[in-house]
Amino acid sequence: ASERESMYLVSEFAQKHFSEMAWETELGKAIGLSYFKERGFTEETIKKFKLGYCLDKWDGFTLAALDKGYKLKYLEKTGLTIVKEDTQNPGNSKKFDRFKGRVMFPIHSMSGRVLGFGGRILSNDKKAAKYLNSPESDIYHKSKVLYGIYYAKQAIAKEDNCYLVEGYTDVIQFHQRGIHNVVASSGTALTPEQIRLVNRLTKNITVLFDGDAAGLRASLRGIDLILEQGMNVKVCTFPEGEDPDSFSKNNSYEEVVAYLKDNSQDFIQFKASHLMKEADNDPIKRADTVRDIINSISKIPDRIKKEIYIQECAQIMNVSEAVLFNTLAQIGKKDQ
Ligand code: CTP
Ligand code: MN
Ligand code: MN
Ligand code: MN
Ligand code: MN
Repeated sequence: ASERESMYLVSEFAQKHFSEMAWETELGKAIGLSYFKERGFTEETIKKFKLGYCLDKWDGFTLAALDKGYKLKYLEKTGLTIVKEDTQNPGNSKKFDRFKGRVMFPIHSMSGRVLGFGGRILSNDKKAAKYLNSPESDIYHKSKVLYGIYYAKQAIAKEDNCYLVEGYTDVIQFHQRGIHNVVASSGTALTPEQIRLVNRLTKNITVLFDGDAAGLRASLRGIDLILEQGMNVKVCTFPEGEDPDSFSKNNSYEEVVAYLKDNSQDFIQFKASHLMKEADNDPIKRADTVRDIINSISKIPDRIKKEIYIQECAQIMNVSEAVLFNTLAQIGKKDQ
């Protein structure tokens, strides 16, 4: 087998091992499985997404894999095992499970192969990262994957729309609620490769933001990349303190669908009104905002759409269309 094939195989084994620990060991059931159940995931959901648990032992997984004949080289290359020099015994090494004591979310490719994992800490201990992810490797490129794409691809094509959420649990809880056309960027800035994965299935994306406003401004930037690929973008924000996971857990299917319908807004209109509100009456901020919006509009390949957006934004921002068209022309020159 090729190196990459060996990495896929050990990742597949890891997924099965973590599931087995969650379902079939006393500690795994008491800690891992019950964590997911407390979050409101049904057994069916936990099985569907192949969620698991890495026991809280230094090298429990690593020893199990080695025992089954998987090579340390591939455990290390996939990042499942961390190998360190043993300072007590120079020349020897120590092996640690990267995901020790975490509940596990396997990350699948479009075709369903396990590429890597996200591991969530159980306690809300602020000292350790809430989520730990597989490192970049020959099979896992975080800029090229979307969590949930394997489970969502058919629904995305059928619904001709894709919901883009921030996190693993948002995807899972949406599925459980009956909304299947959803993928997560997993908290990272969107990349052109990720958007291309969706672009093959639909031209429509609805970006759902957590109601914590923290990353909103930064996230708005990434959305220009979606426009550049000629896609239609809507955005929807959730109430303060809620994310798609908590919202769909606490509301019925009909309520969630109605919320999405009533609160999804065209991205350019949203950005224009949101940033104008933020800029308040400060002329410099307002000017920056106008340039920012025109910059987004400049990314849209379709000329007719561009023109319609200019007309709409002139109204929203209370600026003349002529000024906006001039700004657009200037940006066009700079890009050449
Ligand atoms: N994330 C990460 N590392 C962190 C925090 C977040 O990789 N330390 C990623 C995860 O993919 C996470 C996503 O960013 O799912 C969104 O972050 P956040 O909204 O903070 O987490 P939730 O998905 O809401 O997780 P939970 O509900 O379990 O707290
Ligand atoms: Mn590669
Ligand atoms: Mn968040
Ligand atoms: Mn969240
Ligand atoms: Mn959450």
